Amino acid sequence: MIVAGSRSQVLAGRVARSLGVPLAEVRYEEFPDGERLVRVPGLDGVERVVVVASTPTDSSYVELLQLVDACSDAGEVNLVLPYMGYSRQDKEFREGEAVSAHAIARGVRDVDSVSTVNVHEPSVLDWFDCPARDLDASGALADAFDLDSPLVVSPDGGAVDLARNLADSLDGDSNHLRKTRVSGDEVEVEPKKLSAEGRDVVLVDDMISTGGTMQEAIRVLDDQGAERVYAACVHPVLAGSAVVDLYRAGVEEVVATDTLETAVSRVSVAGVIADSL
Ligand code: R5P
Repeated sequence: MIVAGSRSQVLAGRVARSLGVPLAEVRYEEFPDGERLVRVPGLDGVERVVVVASTPTDSSYVELLQLVDACSDAGEVNLVLPYMGYSRQDKEFREGEAVSAHAIARGVRDVDSVSTVNVHEPSVLDWFDCPARDLDASGALADAFDLDSPLVVSPDGGAVDLARNLADSLDGDSNHLRKTRVSGDEVEVEPKKLSAEGRDVVLVDDMISTGGTMQEAIRVLDDQGAERVYAACVHPVLAGSAVVDLYRAGVEEVVATDTLETAVSRVSVAGVIADSL
């Protein structure tokens, strides 16, 4: 039985279809004071439950904890966190800061396994108290492109593996830039010579939030004569005017998966999740 978080309804439906298993009835309710409650009727006697729930917001995380609680009578509960919110705060960057990813992982109890998709820093998986693994969406992302031997570039060192895997799927080659974060919405990307002249380039990152990282990388590639530049990511967080800003920066298209369900979520990770189950 697949149980959907409210922010992963399409993806959970696709996983259920792909596996040919039932999708549980779920009710997401809200009290007048803003507190929320989930209800998952019909789980009596269900042996195995898979909760599919991205957590881009605080309330979706609380909802996830409630979903797991509502499923606790099942013999086995597997949790799929397609997008794990707070995963970027994976260490104490300044003295005294909370390590949010640690707090989030510690809050998830009583599940038999956790799966994430291209989580920002895979070492955070060690903080779950059950077996946890990270799935790779690069193959699914590749389905969105029909390009002739593109150059695939990650805008910083963190997405090098993702860029390499995507390049392999697209019969292209990969490279990476170097980024320094100045503030929450300001980054600097060092110029670096890439073989971009006259080529289609796919910039790929685990997520696009403000789009600042991608915009800086687009500038570097434009300066080097790239033909068309695509901005691809697994998780389209897309804060504020990120999409407008990317098109204004000259991007050909913004492409993402459905770990977060947005207008640019053109490809699905349902197959990757279904195969892993
Ligand atoms: C951080 O290192 C991530 O991999 C992304 O590069 C970052 O979250 C993108 O953020 P933004 O779109 O705000 O530049």
